[in-house]
Amino acid sequence: MTAMQNVSLGAHYVVHLPRPDDFAFWRERARQLIQCDVPPDRVSWAEPGGTGDLFAYEGPSRGEKRLPVPEADVAEVRASKRFMQLARNVSVHSDPERFSLLYRTLWRLQSRPGMMQDSADTDVRRIEELDKEVRRDAHKMHAFVRFREVEDEGGEHYVAWFEPDHHIVRREAGFFMRRFANMHWSILTPRGCIHWDGTTMRESPPARREDAPAGDPVEALWKSYYVSIFNPARLKVGAMLSEMPKKYWKNMPEAELIPDLIAGAQAREAGMVAAGGRKVREVPSSLEEIEAGIIACRDCPIAECRTQAVMGEGAVGAYLMIVGEQPGDQEDLVGKPFVGPAGQLLDEYLAGVGIDRGATYVTNAVKHFKFVARGKRRIHQTPQAKEIDICRFWLEAERKVVVPRVVLALGASAARALLGRTVSLAKERGRPVPLDDGSELWITAHPSYLLRLDGEARAAQEELFARDLAAVKARTEVLA
Ligand code: URA
Repeated sequence: MTAMQNVSLGAHYVVHLPRPDDFAFWRERARQLIQCDVPPDRVSWAEPGGTGDLFAYEGPSRGEKRLPVPEADVAEVRASKRFMQLARNVSVHSDPERFSLLYRTLWRLQSRPGMMQDSADTDVRRIEELDKEVRRDAHKMHAFVRFREVEDEGGEHYVAWFEPDHHIVRREAGFFMRRFANMHWSILTPRGCIHWDGTTMRESPPARREDAPAGDPVEALWKSYYVSIFNPARLKVGAMLSEMPKKYWKNMPEAELIPDLIAGAQAREAGMVAAGGRKVREVPSSLEEIEAGIIACRDCPIAECRTQAVMGEGAVGAYLMIVGEQPGDQEDLVGKPFVGPAGQLLDEYLAGVGIDRGATYVTNAVKHFKFVARGKRRIHQTPQAKEIDICRFWLEAERKVVVPRVVLALGASAARALLGRTVSLAKERGRPVPLDDGSELWITAHPSYLLRLDGEARAAQEELFARDLAAVKARTEVLA
């Protein structure tokens, strides 16, 4: 590569990065300097503030050398894919030497293109170390950000405090945006903050620990969820500490439970052995705990294909519980049961017999949407019996908390979930079936079934459906 005429002989250049995580800016300047044949010992890389915050760009000082400009026909800079991948990650490390290290390596790559394969090389080794540390930091952020709920002018807002080791906040915004797409949230950090309002991402200057709320109901929810998933048989204290370094504990509500959980682990493990190796879960005792549990539940494969878990809707003490099969496409997107076409038909019939849906508790046998994708469409799949049986734990928990006097099962899947056996709709609909807690179950068809029919068949089924609902309404009046 030829030196450019506009390079000042022996000059030292200082490149001021506008942000400590501005990889694109570094890449452009590095390319320019290499094309002008400026060796690494004649370049310094300065980041804003020196403390590494996202916002404090000071700009170049007076009297500093302007960067040289390469001539138009100069050769392209060589950089392997591997180097670019690593460099992108390493550029957000908090090591103040990272940009110099990257520039030196890029410089050396021009004469040794295969150098990134040489793990004995000190620069390559250092780059690999920094890359690993950044990836680890991102992993910790994904795992240990804990939101607290606050109310503000805009309604519910979830706020988390996190202390990353590196400049990963802006980079990781997409992860949280995808995961918590429907929530309004803020992640406050000493390296800058990010805010999502459901449509737009915004950034703001660094925050202090005191700016984040301390504790709230979400915390209680996390704790109970954590107790319920804590698996004593898998407990390896050393591995747990390396995965969940103590540094993060102060922001994690569940961390204060860890000493007791470790202490109680042996007893629980013995319980598990006695239960034949099945996971022993504590039965949740509030709707909030159930919701936290279903959000986290991965006991069957359906949970992997959905957008979100769909919790039941209604109040504790509702006299009637209505149980569907599983959320459909609309419910999966909105996060509420029976809001799509089947829900509209159900609402129509409930209103027709005088049942106020708002006074009932509406839920599903299975809490996640099971579907197969066909192009852009998501086609409903009936859950298998074993999937219904696994999810029964949550329905039972809802029944224990809500304590309805009457339960209405819509379709055979819901009936199976309530009775724990295969149910013939034709034989068992339209009459009460006693449940273990003294409440009574009524079984009818699923409104989606009605939607699939037309003509006389539809009219006949609608009549039966209306009759079943009217019987349920009458029973609730007797039992209420
Ligand atoms: N079908 C169901 O069974 N449940 C819903 O929530 C929606 C459609």
